[in-house]
Amino acid sequence: MSISAPAKAYHLTTFGCQMNQHDSERMQGMLESLGWAATESQGDADLILFNTCSIREKADEKLIQYLYEARMVKRQRPETIIGVGGCWAQSVTEEVFRRFPFVDVAFGPGQVDKLAEFLNSDSLSAQGYFEFEGFTGHLPQRKEKTHSAWVQISVGCNCNCSYCIVPSTRGREASRPSEELVTEVSELVAAGVKEVTLLGQNVNSYGRDLQDGGKTTFSGLLRELDSIDGLRRLRYTSPHPKDMKEDVVLAHAELESVCAHIHLPLQAGSTSVLKAMRRTYTRERYLDRVDMIRASLPDVSITTDIIVGFPGETEADFEETIEVVETVGFDGAFTFIFSPRRGTLAASLPDSVPHEEKVARMQRLLPVVQRCALERAQRFVGREMEVLVEGTSRTDDARLRGRTSGSKVVNFDGLAKPGDLVTVLIEEESSLTLGGTQVLAEISR
Ligand code: 5AD
Ligand code: SF4
Repeated sequence: MSISAPAKAYHLTTFGCQMNQHDSERMQGMLESLGWAATESQGDADLILFNTCSIREKADEKLIQYLYEARMVKRQRPETIIGVGGCWAQSVTEEVFRRFPFVDVAFGPGQVDKLAEFLNSDSLSAQGYFEFEGFTGHLPQRKEKTHSAWVQISVGCNCNCSYCIVPSTRGREASRPSEELVTEVSELVAAGVKEVTLLGQNVNSYGRDLQDGGKTTFSGLLRELDSIDGLRRLRYTSPHPKDMKEDVVLAHAELESVCAHIHLPLQAGSTSVLKAMRRTYTRERYLDRVDMIRASLPDVSITTDIIVGFPGETEADFEETIEVVETVGFDGAFTFIFSPRRGTLAASLPDSVPHEEKVARMQRLLPVVQRCALERAQRFVGREMEVLVEGTSRTDDARLRGRTSGSKVVNFDGLAKPGDLVTVLIEEESSLTLGGTQVLAEISR
């Protein structure tokens, strides 16, 4: 056995969405290829790193608290490096260093590779990197799960949603060439991955920026990836309703690996609020997209994102959101209270809905969302469904946990290991999870 020199230790905290979790895996992969090793405690770390989000104020507050904790470590061990990456860093750029002078390096989501440059240099002064350039998808990856992987197909977003900070933190949309993605997914599958989730800020406009005369499309990419032998589940997030066209729905219907789940962010059910949000679709157009999806895919799970309390949202507007939730009957929804984000158009609108009213609306919306999710979940009871095993149940060590193609978590009695695809008889439902028993194949004599 050879003993190598102790590696330098890093501690990484991730905030935000799946794209950020993906970026964090790339940061970890990059650090580990440079000889750094992860540590559980900030106190032991030579590099304390944060991958930040700026969608919600709560995340900002938490980050600030974590940053001050990191400063305590640095006070005891001044050589500790403190790094801040991701969307929040990008939204404040150099201001990071003014507000938090103990930060050594800061970088936006497109500049993860610059972290390596910083660590390999003998830089004595703080550095910030905020260009929109790279794909983190090019960096090595350290995966949390061996059977599932994220693949970044595009970065940035060309939409103009007035509440959203993403265009200003992640830049213009840029797609990775499909050949590169096919190679990456083939390699993942060869390494044992069964489920791939394609990531992009607006996945279904994938390819439009590539100069190939419109040859590369999102549905075309789904087809190419589906033909990779051994890829059992293909997911993607998030599409924009305006780009949810027949070809993508057809891909769901025809391709075996494409999962029975579409996350279709509604944001608001009132056309006038949608207009103020610059979503470029009306309430009717959204409902029409849902009808189009359900006509071809009656069993598909549809989930959504909803913002309550957007500036100018009236009681009548809010009631329209409730109506759309009831009409569609979502399988699940992420709900957000509007909060102004710096540099966005909505932040300059008078924030007309008082905070207590926003909270009251949220409290009226949540039971409707939960009731619809529960009603939708009832259709699964009594069915045998394919489940990809993820581990043990979070609430009961004696049971297993996995996910259906429609993205429902299933807690079940059975005998299997993470990464196995098993059949489970669904026996009970709640708004968030299903419960059941594994159907064991009969052992032939
Ligand atoms: N306030 C509240 N929610 C927001 N989201 C994005 N920006 C804001 C904001 N300023 C929500 C949207 C988006 C999800 C990822 O976060 O619903 O789809
Ligand atoms: Fe993800 Fe948006 Fe948060 Fe950035 S700001 S981490 S893209 S949710």
